[in-house]
Amino acid sequence: MKEKLKGMLKGKRKSIFAVVGVSTLLFTVGIFNASAETNFIKSPYMLFEGSNTSMSLLWQTSDDQANVIKWGTDASYAMGHETVGTFGTDHQHKFTITGLKPATKYYYDVDGQTGSFVTAPADNATSVKFLSYGDSRTQPSYQEQVAGLALKAYAADPAYQTILLNSGDIASSDTESNWTAQYFVPGSTYPQLHTLQSEVPMVGARGNHEGAGSVYGKYFPYPYVSNFYWSFDYGPVHITVVDEYADYKPGSAQYNWLVNDLASTTKPWKIVMAHNPAWGAGTHGNDSNVQNVIHPLLKQYGVQLYLNGHNHNYARAEVDGIEYLTSGGGGAPSYAVDPTWPNIVKAESTYFLSEFDVNGKNMHVTSRRLDGSVIETVTLNNNKLPVANAGLDQTVTDDCNGNSCKNVNAPKRTGPKDPGFEKITLNGTESLDQDGTISSYVWKEGETSIATGAAPIVNLSVGTHTVTLTVTDDDGATATDTVVVTVNPSSKDNNK
Ligand SMILES: [Fe+2]
Repeated sequence: MKEKLKGMLKGKRKSIFAVVGVSTLLFTVGIFNASAETNFIKSPYMLFEGSNTSMSLLWQTSDDQANVIKWGTDASYAMGHETVGTFGTDHQHKFTITGLKPATKYYYDVDGQTGSFVTAPADNATSVKFLSYGDSRTQPSYQEQVAGLALKAYAADPAYQTILLNSGDIASSDTESNWTAQYFVPGSTYPQLHTLQSEVPMVGARGNHEGAGSVYGKYFPYPYVSNFYWSFDYGPVHITVVDEYADYKPGSAQYNWLVNDLASTTKPWKIVMAHNPAWGAGTHGNDSNVQNVIHPLLKQYGVQLYLNGHNHNYARAEVDGIEYLTSGGGGAPSYAVDPTWPNIVKAESTYFLSEFDVNGKNMHVTSRRLDGSVIETVTLNNNKLPVANAGLDQTVTDDCNGNSCKNVNAPKRTGPKDPGFEKITLNGTESLDQDGTISSYVWKEGETSIATGAAPIVNLSVGTHTVTLTVTDDDGATATDTVVVTVNPSSKDNNK
């Protein structure tokens, strides 16, 4: 790979020399002594392409030049260096640093532009943190403040230096000028936004304002499956990015891909990110296509959260146990909220950042206003309920082997019938917990506890007993099942 790149660069240099007559100047400042003269149009930023052992860096320069990238686990950048030429027709550069360790912080330097990133978690990680906002577009001065919240989040807890999900409408139109003025913003006006871009890769979803996505796709060439949809794992979370401005109706290529994507992931947490709200709190109406096409799939495949933008506010709805979070507080002018809209649990018109904290079977989503105050923290739990199995119904005859069978040798008594007892082994061993263990078994007849354990032996009197088994899993969730045990009297019962 490196050899190939070196070969390409060599070829590139030759072509540059061939085209540019005044090669002496270029030789001096453009390639081999680039650091002093490099003019960055877009400072280095990251592209997370789904791997936890690599990270791609992109940048753009004012002319066709090569730059030296160096990287390492500290600011001595001792792990490697490479000279990177341009690609495409607009002086873009892209270099993928490979061979990295998961969940590790690395530092880089591209001709004096420095930054850092943290690789994605190990495949078997059970916890992870990440950030999100959306609808940043026309007010970069507000996005600057939301970016400041992100910097604060990982200054306080470095585990938040991971990825930033952006639910779309990153810039207000599909033009270079808007992307420059609203997102990349050269110069020092928005230092927090620049720092965030140099330290946390943004993973976006196409919004309506991305339009055809020619600029978005140019600067954010994720490994799309097609159009602007793709998916990736991030530790214990599978994140599926849906492009709602490409066909996703049943029968479409995206629909088929989405079904397969959600059906095949084995991750315990699933998030679908797209731009339009299924259930929001205004101003844009709810999208019936998301409700009718996406929602059934989220339900069927156990997706816990749908992250969207489009409405410039905070809104959270709950439908069939799925959280619908509108993450549209990234900078675009705020929209009023109407909390009476269907299924809305919480809504607020504000700018904000959301912090996702996934830890085992819990996900906490804390959303903060610009002053750092908390709108709310939502806790999701993805524990799978245990299944109780109290065993097959049993019919037995009091065979006097039980500890209270009447003494068959005793004189026959008169008076009320005095039933015997029979020892019964209850069988709860077929109970299960798919994502943990069963920590307790309690057997009750009516309100009376008669035994504990997976397969206890109980003494049941002659008659019919409906016994309820309650199992509790290691996360405290319970399930019940009943078994009917019939004890027939013994022919030797001395009451007869
Ligand atoms: Fe939008």
